[in-house]
Amino acid sequence: MSDLRPVEELSLDEAAEELRSLAERLGEANRDYHQKDAPRIADAEYDALKRRNAEIETRYPELRRADSPSEQVGAAPSEAFAKVRHVVPMLSLANAFEDAEVIDFDSRIRRFLGLSAEEPLAFTAEPKIDGLSLSLRYEKGVLVQAATRGDGETGENVTANARTIDDIPERIAGAPDVLEVRGEAYMSHADFAALNARQAETRGKTFANPRNAAAGSLRQLDPKITAGRPLHYFAYAWGALSEPLAATQTEAIARLGAMGFQVNPLMRRCEHVEDMLAQYRAIEAQRATLGYDIDGVVYKLDRLDLQARLGFRSTTPRWAIAHKFPAEVASTLLEGIDIQVGRTGALSPVARLTPVTVGGVVVSNATLHNEDYIKGLDSHGHEIRGGRDIRIGDWVRVYRAGDVIPKVEDVDLSRRPADSVPYEFPRTCPICGSDAIREEGEAVHRCAGGLICPAQAVEKLRHFVSRNAFDIEGLGAKQVEALFADDWIREPADIFTLRARYGPGQPLQLRNREGWGAKSAENVLNAIDERRRIAINRVIFGLGIRHVGETGAMLLARAYGSWDRFREAMEAARSHEGPEWEELNAIDGVGPVFAAALVDYFHEPAARAAVDRLVRELDIQDVEAPRTEGSPVAGKTVVFTGTLERMTRAEAKARAEALGAKVAGSVSAKTDIVVVGPGAGSKEKKARELGLNVLDEDQWLALIGS
Ligand code: IVH
Repeated sequence: MSDLRPVEELSLDEAAEELRSLAERLGEANRDYHQKDAPRIADAEYDALKRRNAEIETRYPELRRADSPSEQVGAAPSEAFAKVRHVVPMLSLANAFEDAEVIDFDSRIRRFLGLSAEEPLAFTAEPKIDGLSLSLRYEKGVLVQAATRGDGETGENVTANARTIDDIPERIAGAPDVLEVRGEAYMSHADFAALNARQAETRGKTFANPRNAAAGSLRQLDPKITAGRPLHYFAYAWGALSEPLAATQTEAIARLGAMGFQVNPLMRRCEHVEDMLAQYRAIEAQRATLGYDIDGVVYKLDRLDLQARLGFRSTTPRWAIAHKFPAEVASTLLEGIDIQVGRTGALSPVARLTPVTVGGVVVSNATLHNEDYIKGLDSHGHEIRGGRDIRIGDWVRVYRAGDVIPKVEDVDLSRRPADSVPYEFPRTCPICGSDAIREEGEAVHRCAGGLICPAQAVEKLRHFVSRNAFDIEGLGAKQVEALFADDWIREPADIFTLRARYGPGQPLQLRNREGWGAKSAENVLNAIDERRRIAINRVIFGLGIRHVGETGAMLLARAYGSWDRFREAMEAARSHEGPEWEELNAIDGVGPVFAAALVDYFHEPAARAAVDRLVRELDIQDVEAPRTEGSPVAGKTVVFTGTLERMTRAEAKARAEALGAKVAGSVSAKTDIVVVGPGAGSKEKKARELGLNVLDEDQWLALIGS
């Protein structure tokens, strides 16, 4: 523990990463001690880790984790917190903040379904409960499993804890043989206040808000503790089903109510978008007196057959949206501005604030985005905040929108000190001293140091080992930093050659480093070897290419299927023209900026060489085919052209994609099927010249079996 940096020096990202790794290490220590009866660390070290965790949480309360070790006592029953794979993924919702976005949601759906503005189209409107989602599986009417959302694909088994919640029936009548009920576990304001009072009396930990209290209580390792903390549950959706529940959302929820679940009494069926907005106002007006936290209103298309036609984007349904309430705001003093350097070299200004409570959470940092934002300009050079700039020493209004890092909304000029001066954005990188360059048309300054900038290299490595990238157990940000500092790891490929260079039998060995031992070194080397076999989307995401996030990486993985195809296409597209460039740009969700960042990355010799060194160490798995067994068009590339008469273009595309096909915008020799409607022109001509399979709409529908 001796090499720990003072908590004040940690960046927001570093603090979050350290909390993650502490949660992991303390969790492991708890399991060793309680479950395996085989502690591997001394009591004093355990206490020191817990203290460190508490220190970071005190300094950054907004980073406190739902699985915070400070809330966990005792042992996990072996079943608890086992992973549960959701048969039907647990999705999140797209957000709307303005009425106009809700009106747009309604029009988008009408467009998709080919309905005019006059045709009837009903939605439900109901409160968005601010708790944590929980999926309950019933088989033949008996509760068999409760699982948290987790990452949407895999959650945690909290069955024993869920059984202690009164609103969750143990048995239900009149249900399909298999029924997964989805809803929100939450704590009422009264129960939250009483819990905190009790905790304060017994010197236990108190919670920042009811949501955290609910999460902490549900994710208790000891169900007896959960039982002593009253939680409630509203059912609002479902997952796997052996037979349909009803024809509409309204009826389905009524059925869940009849089975014995609590369903929200404020849910209404709305005939028009105006009714939806009226229900939003009605719910907002009751917000303060409901007795539990809500953070918006959820609208869902009422007819379930239409929901099915609309389907899903990668993580959100097209048929539902959350209309959020405006974020809470608080005033505080801006004490200083720090500059952090990210993995792409971007300099990010961060406001250091006098800690203030916003929406139940203490906030001490806020993002300031870039130079223009501080000056009072948006990305197009237009004034924001009435052109008011932000200065050190100003009183600022900060707000939190959802879980994201807090933002500065405005400054209070009436409280600005007379001697304050405009903030000068640094012209050099605070880490390596290289020039910080702001390119024409760009808002951010980037460190020109590239690979010589330790901040960039370390951030890239930290990103590489992070949870959604390579996720190597035991090799977190802290370990990577230490190994980088000593030159043991300079780039991702080095991680995979660690065993050969510093494993057993070598002059210098990982096991002899401070903070390591024979067991932990071997575990990490094994964990690294386990990650040699890895999914292509994780590799693409792990490279940390600008603009290429997790969703983008997944789009690419799906579109190209294999690493070799992807790599060749990037090579072939490097001139920003030709069929491969067009193919890349035709991927739904890929825009010109993304495409350019991607191919330019592979065009850069140093980056390319580093990627090749990495890939030699790996066994990259092709993307898992979507669940499209028996689909006649899985993996095929389809182009729609001309007017479709039986459904809109958007619906045709969504259905083809749901069946595992790729939908492209232009015809090439790589196209498999071209579906033509009346008015098709040059694309049809080209398809015929190329001898492709050309179908009319009816033939296409017959092919996909509808
Ligand atoms: S429906 C497929 N309804 O909000 C759609 N979600 O931001 C499934 N939530 O993960 C969600 N109240 O935890 C739905 N009335 C409500 C909700 C609700 C709260 C949560 C849920 C979801 C999150 C998405």
